[in-house]
Amino acid sequence: MTEGTRTKYSGLAMVLHWLIAAGVIANWLIRETAEGAETEEAAQAIMTNHFSIGVTLWFLAVALLIVHFTGGKAPLASHLATWERWLARIVHTLFFILLLVMPFGAWSAMSQYGAPISWFGLISIPPLPMEVNPDAANAAFEQHGQAGGFLLILIVVHVLGTLKHMVIDKDGNLFRMLPFGDAKG
Ligand code: HEM
Ligand code: HEM
Repeated sequence: MTEGTRTKYSGLAMVLHWLIAAGVIANWLIRETAEGAETEEAAQAIMTNHFSIGVTLWFLAVALLIVHFTGGKAPLASHLATWERWLARIVHTLFFILLLVMPFGAWSAMSQYGAPISWFGLISIPPLPMEVNPDAANAAFEQHGQAGGFLLILIVVHVLGTLKHMVIDKDGNLFRMLPFGDAKG
């Protein structure tokens, strides 16, 4: 299969993509659950899962990026309109940027609390050598929350794009990310 006719991402890219999608949605739901917790301690306990998944998401995004640039990506379908091509590129690029930057921002914010991050209770990620400054940490987490909100908007655009292609254009776009089904090149 030549680059020009390839219509599917590699198996590894598919696995990484769906793990990332599940992790991002889980992290959002965990945050929502923590907000509804009865006590601050309960909220903290719930959020440790968000921290662990958040750190994992960084590694998954790096892995997908490597797979992307080493032949795991299918070129965008040739029948896409120019605006669709640009929108897809912009949304995918912003996804990668947010997935790479958000965990680091959160790590530096935790460091400004002087607190380590526990990765599923197995590994303790130490704080960065930064001055302890809870006000700055709070501000950084507020920005992290805003970035999270923006990420959710991007997901809506991304999913609506897939739906438009599946339902209106009927080009099998979703099957580019799935091991079965046919997608138009
Ligand atoms: C929820 C978080 C999600 C994130 C962060 C995400 C991220 C991404 C990224 C970064 C790519 C480009 C991959 C690359 O170029 O290597 C991509 C492609 C794709 N995603 Fe998602 N995705 C998410 C959810 C979904 C969902 C729920 C669907 C299905 C409804 C979906 C369907 C697709 C499809 C079909 C492509 C291939 C697009 C194309 O090349 O035409 N994604 N996604
Ligand atoms: C790519 C990885 C991550 C994603 C996608 C993500 C996503 C989100 C989302 C969607 C929110 C909720 C925003 C809202 O309610 O408006 C949030 C909040 C939060 N996240 Fe993450 N997160 C990630 C990594 C992390 C990490 C690694 C940590 C800590 C080490 C962390 C700590 C927090 C905290 C403390 C909040 C609450 C912020 C606030 O005060 O609003 N997150 N995150």
